[in-house]
Amino acid sequence: MPDYETFQHDVLVIGAGGAGLRAAIEASAFGVSVGLICKSLLGKAHTVMAEGGIAAALANVDDRDNWKVHFADTMRGGQYVNNWRMAELHAREAPARVRELEAWGAVFDRTKDGRILQRNFGGHKYPRLAHVGDRTGLEMIRTLQDHGVHQGIDVHMERTVLELLKQNGRVVGAFGYDRERGRFLVYRAKAVVLATGGIGRAYKITSNSWEYTGDGHSLAYRAGAELIDMEFVQFHPTGMVWPPSVRGILVTEGVRGEGGILTNNQGRRFMFDDIPENYRAQTADNEEEGWRYCQGDKDARRPPELLTRDHIARCIVREIKAGRGSPHGGVFLDIAWIKKRMSNAEDYIKRKLPSMYHQFKQLADIDITQEPMEVGPTTHYVMGGIRVDADTQMSRIPGLFAAGECAAGINGANRLGGNSLSDLLVFGKRAGEFAADFAKKNPVAEIDSGQIEEMARHALEPFERGGGENPYAVQHDLQETMQDNVGIVRTENEMISALEKLESFRARTGRVGVNGNREFNPGWHTALDLENLLTVSEAITRAAIERKESRGAQFREDFPDKDPKFGNANTIVWRGEDGGMKVRLDAIPEMPVELRQIIEENP
Ligand code: FUM
Repeated sequence: MPDYETFQHDVLVIGAGGAGLRAAIEASAFGVSVGLICKSLLGKAHTVMAEGGIAAALANVDDRDNWKVHFADTMRGGQYVNNWRMAELHAREAPARVRELEAWGAVFDRTKDGRILQRNFGGHKYPRLAHVGDRTGLEMIRTLQDHGVHQGIDVHMERTVLELLKQNGRVVGAFGYDRERGRFLVYRAKAVVLATGGIGRAYKITSNSWEYTGDGHSLAYRAGAELIDMEFVQFHPTGMVWPPSVRGILVTEGVRGEGGILTNNQGRRFMFDDIPENYRAQTADNEEEGWRYCQGDKDARRPPELLTRDHIARCIVREIKAGRGSPHGGVFLDIAWIKKRMSNAEDYIKRKLPSMYHQFKQLADIDITQEPMEVGPTTHYVMGGIRVDADTQMSRIPGLFAAGECAAGINGANRLGGNSLSDLLVFGKRAGEFAADFAKKNPVAEIDSGQIEEMARHALEPFERGGGENPYAVQHDLQETMQDNVGIVRTENEMISALEKLESFRARTGRVGVNGNREFNPGWHTALDLENLLTVSEAITRAAIERKESRGAQFREDFPDKDPKFGNANTIVWRGEDGGMKVRLDAIPEMPVELRQIIEENP
């Protein structure tokens, strides 16, 4: 029998980014005991990579804004395959969650009359992103952390959950290990909230750090939950491309929100060349008007650099493929050009985008107040994830909840920038509340020691195969395959080939070996992450093959148009009785007339 330490909480929250912290705070406020597991140190989360702001219709900068316009923008951005109820709840509740965050100590930038300042972002009709320079996610995590540590939450840092524990169909805890010493841990809980973030590490070029290996997606999948719309992976248009060591690091959309433009190696603003029909009425077709919009002229239309991320990423790829890219395989993002328009441009850029200024100065020796940046798409976010009930955030497995990036529905085929931060506050709060309620109504269950023994034995297998496959080599090959075959532009043949390769990586994972012991052993950690990376990669690929059309973040070269058959459908992935991955299309429930009307009234 393996040695393990046991902990008990009413609600166990796995993942301590914005959604996990917000869920833990809320559950705790309902008077239940809460455990919060972080894969790394508390405060280190992909939430900080949402730099440019949090989307909420506060209407502080443009009084025409309200939740209805935000709802319509989110649905349009998601190409109408969103869970409309989630999009509605999100738009309605986001302003209250932002004000609450402010009351807890978040120090937002201010309008001249002292209200929370809001900036422009892609796909948002009005300036809607409450921000703290270009460090909004960081300020949000700092605030939630400061608030959370006073709520009596037990924080378990540097721990990885390997499996969820079930009893009679209900989730009753989790099994994992501490990354420092390699000791096994058992968490008994009445309800579990997954808030593990994304899957970016399944790709070679990503803004995600090492933690984001699709853990929550895979834990839920293995526990019997469904995954929805996994084909929709967001490639943020602007990541760093040079030098190679920093490739993929995010360059905030806030740069374009403050007037930054995209140009090719001929100096042409190529975004004017391709404005999608459904955004034509909102988009400027000349430099002068775009600039006036950035300066707050309410009669002007948005510059094309503020179209949605899926579209911009594809336009950038087109320029690069046509040989019009920058020297290191990207395009140019230029904020320095505003000197033509503003006398105090240098100060303005440093004040609005301090992190970007330092990031480029220190990592690429580029002064962004004087010269353009080189940027290209980077895997940033997954719209797909665990299928949950919109109101409660519970999955189809009793006692298993999910919130934030690992849950899905609100964003449809493409997420608007800034909606992730408000999503994780709105739905983190809801998950915490309903998990606490579930915990109050259900007893703590006995843990099956046979289950634990089997999980521990499986986790230790790589040590029995010293000299086996190198886990880093398998991880590297998987990332390359997903980047090349299931990236921004997809075809059936390439994806079938990806599935075959994933099968071979699975076989190699079964032969992975590590040396040394369980203490401080990154090779072992990587070996244990592989199962999750394989699961999410297969789910993305199978869902992308199933959706035989192009919509939002999924562009199929072999099916370049939208197909109405898929316009009313979500892809669903689940684990079949035989252990194999299954995929199907589910029709989207009909939208209530009043919501449909809101969309029609807000073109
Ligand atoms: O570009 C950004 O600042 C990222 C924001 C987001 O992903 O929401």
